Amino acid sequence: MSSLLQLSAVAKSFGAVRALKGVSFDLRAGEVHALLGENGAGKSTLIKVITGAHQPDGGAIEINGERVSHLTPASAHKLGIACIYQQPALFPDLTVTENIALRLEPASAARKVNWPARRTRATELLKRIGAEISPEAEVRSLSMPEQQLVEIACALGAGARIVIMDEPTASLTQKEQHLLFAVVKDLRTNGVGVIYISHRLEEIFALADRVTVLRDGESVGTNQVHTMNEASLIKLMVGREVSAIYPPSESEAGKAILSLKNLNCMAGGVKNVSLDVHAGEVVGMAGLVGAGRTELARVLFGITPADSGEIILNGQHITISSPQEAVAHGIAYVPEDRRRHGVILEMPIAHNMTMAIHRRIFPGAWLQFGAERQLALDFICDLGVKAYGPDAPGGSLSGGNQQKVSLARWLATKPKLLILDEPTQGVDVGAKSEIHKIIRRLAKEGLAVLMISSDLPEVLGMADRIAVMRGGTIAAMLPGKSDAHTVMAAALGQTK
Ligand SMILES: Nc1ncnc2c1ncn2[C@@H]1O[C@H](COP(=O)(O)OP(=O)(O)OP(=O)(O)O)[C@@H](O)[C@H]1O
Ligand SMILES: [Mg+2]
Repeated sequence: MSSLLQLSAVAKSFGAVRALKGVSFDLRAGEVHALLGENGAGKSTLIKVITGAHQPDGGAIEINGERVSHLTPASAHKLGIACIYQQPALFPDLTVTENIALRLEPASAARKVNWPARRTRATELLKRIGAEISPEAEVRSLSMPEQQLVEIACALGAGARIVIMDEPTASLTQKEQHLLFAVVKDLRTNGVGVIYISHRLEEIFALADRVTVLRDGESVGTNQVHTMNEASLIKLMVGREVSAIYPPSESEAGKAILSLKNLNCMAGGVKNVSLDVHAGEVVGMAGLVGAGRTELARVLFGITPADSGEIILNGQHITISSPQEAVAHGIAYVPEDRRRHGVILEMPIAHNMTMAIHRRIFPGAWLQFGAERQLALDFICDLGVKAYGPDAPGGSLSGGNQQKVSLARWLATKPKLLILDEPTQGVDVGAKSEIHKIIRRLAKEGLAVLMISSDLPEVLGMADRIAVMRGGTIAAMLPGKSDAHTVMAAALGQTK
């Protein structure tokens, strides 16, 4: 197999942070090459060097055997490099056909616009990847994963030979995941080289031929995937053994902190939800993407308030019509998709972490920077946030580390009810087990925890009880010690 891409001793620093310390990497035609590493290891930085978004400080890049001295996004595109981001960069108001045409036709070409041909090409490209998406659909009407598929269609249409996917499955349903895997395998069969980044080890075993592990900006080895197992990969990644075992539940469920009775919210598609969450209890919320789990969380946090039904918190009937009210009632919500809702990029991470409790640590407006710093340092240590210190701006952190900051902000509020939406999505295995321990500790301290997760092992490993949502309502309440099959069957609405 020939090398499509060869990186030798590539280095990149951001100020004093050495994100890449001389990484060598090669990608062959017809292989899926996984890139693995803890949060902040340098994966996204490496990708940005390959796509021309960052200029390396040192090292060499060869594409198709030729040395490339100055890659820009435009020249990378011409050389057949395409990157599928988790958040696709499409024009929401245009149709799929228009988006594909814009991407594939040079803006400068004064050509006659041939709509039927454009539509045919879009249809063909979508068909090749098995996507059931209408070429006439406006992009804003498509789900995130559908938009990713449009991106892949663009990459195919552009004849990309090197396709990069940075955590592509984070928000996909299982069906969409299978579709994506089939597309990746198809690309491989067609001689495309795929670089695949994911924190989910099972995906790497299912999909990749080789795996390169980065640690602290250095490559600690490239191996054939079939010579590795989960334990050996984790060890390479973190340099120590990490327990993959979920911490056992140590708390007894106390009184009901939250009771919902026939809760409805038309705008959010939440229907007739009745649910109790007790002090000291972790209630896991399973269900397919679109089942209404995030919508329910948004109702409870006052973002889209309920139209009817009862919310009883600590024995008192309450209404929650804004996030401020929710916070005042002791409810905290760590949203999904923290890239959009979470961290303020310009602000130091210490401020980011204390934002929700400013009045508490600055009583009477006395600025207690010492208290803020200490709190931030504790969280940085607890969650293993990789940053040069509490003053580092949010934007200088890697994706996974930004998520930890956002989690810290809400943990700092010491709520009565903590709603977590996909708390470990995009975080590495070591941090994941730290977050699980923190959730357990909080439950033991008497918090009621509602944990939404699409990671079924996580739900089964962490939940004392499992609420399965389907079609905006609770389809089943299951004991924590259920099996994956029972939960999936309930999520899919299968009755035996
Ligand atoms: N624009 C930037 N400014 C300053 N530092 C940065 C910048 N981008 C990345 N870094 C630093 O470079 C290092 C590598 O970050 P990178 O985003 O490549 O990690 P990653 O492996 O993709 O992690 P994750 O799994 O969390 O996405 C981190 O220490 C990060 O803080
Ligand atoms: Mg990253």
